[in-house]
Amino acid sequence: MNTAPVVAVLGYPIHHSKSPKMHRYWLGQAGVSGYYVPLEIHPDNFEDALKNMPKLGFRGANVTIPHKERALEIADFVSERAQRIGAANTLYFDVDGKIHADNTDGYGFITNLKKGAPEWSAKAGPALVLGAGGAARAILDALITEETPEIYLTNRTKGRAQDLAREFDNGIEVLDWDNKNSVLSDVKTLINTTSLGMNGEGDLRLDFSQLSNVMTVTDIVYTPLETDLLKHAKRRGCTCVDGLGMLIYQGVPGFSNWFGVNPKVTDELRELLLS
Ligand code: ATR
Repeated sequence: MNTAPVVAVLGYPIHHSKSPKMHRYWLGQAGVSGYYVPLEIHPDNFEDALKNMPKLGFRGANVTIPHKERALEIADFVSERAQRIGAANTLYFDVDGKIHADNTDGYGFITNLKKGAPEWSAKAGPALVLGAGGAARAILDALITEETPEIYLTNRTKGRAQDLAREFDNGIEVLDWDNKNSVLSDVKTLINTTSLGMNGEGDLRLDFSQLSNVMTVTDIVYTPLETDLLKHAKRRGCTCVDGLGMLIYQGVPGFSNWFGVNPKVTDELRELLLS
């Protein structure tokens, strides 16, 4: 007997996740029967919980902080990009109960950029990535895959940036946080992956006067949608892409696979996620 697919998002905590809202919107919009549930799983219980999910009939799952690395280790099969990034955010369970792990964060990032700035090409010139946390890892992988000719990485804690650059082994150049403005005028793609700018707090200490209309600027922060960085970049004539689309597009491959329908990205969905 065919039953409606059940999918979960696993995190600890999980109440902040916007994934249930988004996937339920898509289920309703597509008229597909299915369930998408948030599950708060303590790290101590994560391995048991995940291994039991296929037996319980789940079709797959999203994983979020703090489980992304552990999910990769537990999975039976790992996609190349998830392997490179070292973390999983999307899991598929096959008919034999095997767990397939993927990471769609970089895909979400690039798809959002391409939709928001159709003229954008990574190959246009150097990229500067601000921040070296979890989000930066997927974004760096995506920029390398898109053949960005030169990547600069800077982080308040330089050691984290150095560790990340070493992992990728692709000639990423690490800059001191206080020295990031030295390359700014050469940069064609500028990406904020730090939490600075969230709720209008924090200062990236960028010399905005060096921004120009040959640059594309994007921010993973989407509260507010137009961060201080994007506001200044817009004034300087840069092509600006807000961060909400990254969250949305990273969810597309999972939804398509679990529920068998390509979901639509609509203004209504964007508004729903911001509400
Ligand atoms: P995630 O893994 O979700 O990306 P994270 O690892 O905490 O979250 O990363 C947050 C990023 O924002 C880091 O690059 C962090 O810099 P540090 O590695 O030095 O902590 C950056 N960040 C947060 N607050 C900052 C601040 N006040 N000034 C500069 N960078 C900041």
